[in-house]
Amino acid sequence: MAQTLTILGLESSCDDTAAAVIRQSDGAGAEILSSIVAGQADLHATFGGVVPEIAARAHTEKLDHCVEAALDKADVTLAEIDAISVTAGPGLIGGVLAGVMCAKGLAAATGKPLIGVNHLAGHALTPRLTDGLDFPYLMLLVSGGHCQFLIAHSPIKFTRLGGTIDDAPGEAFDKTAKLLGLPQPGGPSVEAEALTGNAKAIVFPRPLLDRADCDMSFSGLKTALLRARDSIVAEKTGLTTADRANLCAGFQAAVTDVLAEKSRRALQHYLDLNPAKPAFAVAGGVAANQAIRAGLKSVAEAASVAFIAPPLALCTDNAAMIAWAGLERFRLGLTDDMTLAARPRWPLDQSSPAMLGSGKRGAKA
Ligand code: KG4
Ligand code: ZN
Repeated sequence: MAQTLTILGLESSCDDTAAAVIRQSDGAGAEILSSIVAGQADLHATFGGVVPEIAARAHTEKLDHCVEAALDKADVTLAEIDAISVTAGPGLIGGVLAGVMCAKGLAAATGKPLIGVNHLAGHALTPRLTDGLDFPYLMLLVSGGHCQFLIAHSPIKFTRLGGTIDDAPGEAFDKTAKLLGLPQPGGPSVEAEALTGNAKAIVFPRPLLDRADCDMSFSGLKTALLRARDSIVAEKTGLTTADRANLCAGFQAAVTDVLAEKSRRALQHYLDLNPAKPAFAVAGGVAANQAIRAGLKSVAEAASVAFIAPPLALCTDNAAMIAWAGLERFRLGLTDDMTLAARPRWPLDQSSPAMLGSGKRGAKA
């Protein structure tokens, strides 16, 4: 039976406080009525990374304002909301707790159902919100905290084909920018510098390409960059604009090649499922990178698979994706009660071995 659902979503697992309202009539596309994101970049700027305690405090201060703004912009009242969906992990625990407590308060005060959502499911289900993708599809989550290939089989079933065994690519971009004295976040700065650089001037390693699996490693790239930078500095007593551009271009080309090659392998596994409408989607801040996007798109095209890259505002952390993932769970009859726990780690695919490492932006699992 067609039922129109209006869902409020909350997100606070890293350094963005976000609230959103979405609406969907059963069988129709969803509408994002509002999506408010309050970033904290200024609060963490001087520390060179996200400080969990500062992030948690800021979430606590900003969450109710974001909820108010999201309801106002959507022009709906709390009474018109059908359920409250919140990121319950993985992420920085103080921030996740702030969101879960806020959502529980709203649920208790209004009597509305509460839905705990895995942040990674939020990213992974976004292509269904934006492009109405059918299951199964292949997904690459690539951000400052995540890097993994997932096959999405249903709103609650995902298979992880592989991922980073150390840093996420966004972290590597951020560290590269730091080493070269470029502004944070590093991704856009490195990409801008790379535009005028020669990617072949300094050749970086392509880690783990000798392994047939879909795992990746990016921490060695930043060490390679440090060495390359130091040897140029030792030789010339400083970096020219061209040196910096070449380092950025070489680094970006290495990340692009690794992601593209591992995507090719992930696509082979995915295509073994004989999907009716094969699709490869990307999400996460690093998906904003034009060179990386182009590399992934050409891999998809070569395999005759549709390539989907949601709009950037929905690729990076936001609450519309949490509202959507909550809506998908709600339609399956899945809700939570006041025992909903905040989880720092929460692998989407519980059957795969746990991922190693924990980035400054939160758990990678
Ligand atoms: O998804 P996101 O907003 O937050 C999480 O990490 O969860 O991703 C932010 C990351 C940062 O590391 C940033 O440097 C990277 O995405 N990023 C980029 C670009 N824009 C953002 N990396 C490469 N190229 C870009 N254009
Ligand atoms: Zn995220």
